[in-house]
Amino acid sequence: MAIREILTYPDPRLTKKSSDVACVNDAIKSIINDMIETMYDAPGIGLAATQIGILKNIVIVDSCDKDEDSPLTVLVNPKITHAQGEASIEEGCLSVPNLLVKIKRAAEIVVRAFNADGDEVELQCGGLLAIAVQHEIDHLSGILIVDYASYLKRNLYLKKIKKRELKK
Ligand code: NI
Repeated sequence: MAIREILTYPDPRLTKKSSDVACVNDAIKSIINDMIETMYDAPGIGLAATQIGILKNIVIVDSCDKDEDSPLTVLVNPKITHAQGEASIEEGCLSVPNLLVKIKRAAEIVVRAFNADGDEVELQCGGLLAIAVQHEIDHLSGILIVDYASYLKRNLYLKKIKKRELKK
């Protein structure tokens, strides 16, 4: 296992579309393990493979539910098969530091995917977990929270990043 570098906006690799995993083999399992280590080190509650520069449809999400035995969910090739209701919170992202954007999402979703063992799973979720899963799946299409921000907010954020980079 290794902690990988998390790419940050405006790295162009974050806007690329990922493709499906053909088989959950040892190489994929090793990527998943690195993602888990990287997410908890950050720390964050979700991570998409795109964020460590791997263009594969893999996301991991921590439900933050302390009563659960394993709050970690690994989704390979996730597809949302059902969505209903509406929910929005101020979302942050490890790849877009120091920015919060309120985003309209579905309140409840059903997701089909493969787990870390390569077994097909169907997950019904609501609350923070549903939002986190939708956020991570966005990454697989190259969509970031900045893309939901207003033109003004996005430009202001870009200016701030550039200033910070100049100071380095
Ligand atoms: Ni994110």
